[in-house]
Amino acid sequence: MTNQELKQARDKNVPRGPFNVTGLFAAKALNATITDVEGRDYIDFAGGIGVMAVGHCHPKVVAATQDQSALFSHTCFHVVMYEAYVELARKMNEAAPGDFDKKTILLNSGAEAVENAVKIARYATGRDAVIAFEDAFHGRTLMTMSLTSKTMPYKKGFGPFAPEIYRLPYAYCYRCPLALEYPGCGVACADLLTDAFKNYVGADEVAAVIAEPVLGEGGFVVPPKEYFPKVKKICEDNGIVFIADEVQSGFGRTGKIFSIDHWGVAPDLITSAKSLAAGYPLSAVTGRAELMDAPHVGGLGGTYGGNPVSCRAALAVFDIIEHDGLLARADVIGASIRASFDSLAGELEVVGDVRGLGAMVALELVTDRGTKAPAADLTKALVTRALEKGVIMISAGTYGNVIRPLMPLTIDDATLDRGLAIVAESLREVAAEAGLA
Ligand SMILES: Cc1ncc(COP(=O)(O)O)c(C=O)c1O
Repeated sequence: MTNQELKQARDKNVPRGPFNVTGLFAAKALNATITDVEGRDYIDFAGGIGVMAVGHCHPKVVAATQDQSALFSHTCFHVVMYEAYVELARKMNEAAPGDFDKKTILLNSGAEAVENAVKIARYATGRDAVIAFEDAFHGRTLMTMSLTSKTMPYKKGFGPFAPEIYRLPYAYCYRCPLALEYPGCGVACADLLTDAFKNYVGADEVAAVIAEPVLGEGGFVVPPKEYFPKVKKICEDNGIVFIADEVQSGFGRTGKIFSIDHWGVAPDLITSAKSLAAGYPLSAVTGRAELMDAPHVGGLGGTYGGNPVSCRAALAVFDIIEHDGLLARADVIGASIRASFDSLAGELEVVGDVRGLGAMVALELVTDRGTKAPAADLTKALVTRALEKGVIMISAGTYGNVIRPLMPLTIDDATLDRGLAIVAESLREVAAEAGLA
């Protein structure tokens, strides 16, 4: 069947709620290339929304998952345990920053990891409130949707939301919430947390502060180096659990297994998912052993959490990241993206900001550099034009005006360069057509 025929069947049988960036149906995928059902190849700059760090169908992932599928695909860890779960937990504990004992629980999705991190923080502190940030995305379940900032499309019509969630502006320097400039600002945005204890919720009622070290859906915003040390110190001083949501920024994307390592901060709890298991559903909460052990026996878990096939995939991911040098490769990819985006910034007024960490490098588009008015329509046009030319790409940002490449870190140089050239050519074209070049 063609893409169009399948799309008709999709529209008839599947609700409109689950959005589709492209009208494509996949037939197969290898490394950074997806082939659709009509036999056309696309360069994958989306990686299934930051999931395929090790590329599609990496031979080690294929071998590990095939092997496990033939042994057993499910026993439920609560009923009959298996080594892959424990070994993966050990590796996560070892990889997470912090010179203290850690433990890891495995779950299914990013949202489920965040849900459990909040449960653990509440149980361990005996407190209710959670402080989250503007521009944050933490998932689509009740608690995580409530923690998520952007209303449309994530929250509209889905209330009432979970109570006891408070929100502060994030360290988004390009659109500074305090209209200050770094470094003269003294990273005053971090002090908003202390102010919040006076204005919104008492510090002794706050169980956790949750932050993405680098915003994912929020548009690859990278706070200054002083930001998280300050936030963490305020948490420590007030007995508050600091949760780093590394669902998108973790597992190699920024050149480290956990991006929070760039700030030299050891979170009390870390959530992981996405690139952890190369597309197999798996997520994790890793954290201080005493916090992780706080909930009573039977208080945490789920039927599928830490599925053995997913665990084997994740163990293969650890192996690939190490043996294929993917952390160093993320920096090389990031440098190529940045060079291409910087050159576009020199050429086109619509480029408002180029920023990032490792391979998480974003392009924020504006209709006017002075007012920084977001160019959401132009961003949509860019995504569409790039797709026509063979590159699958996704946008992001509270204003929908950010391009965020999330290609496999295993992408070869020629494919990366070809993809970046297509993105540049597409932006030049759509900017000219919009009268913005
Ligand atoms: C930072 C962050 N947290 C949580 C989630 C939710 O993950 P999932 O879609 O697997 O539930 C996402 C998904 O994009 C994310 O980027």
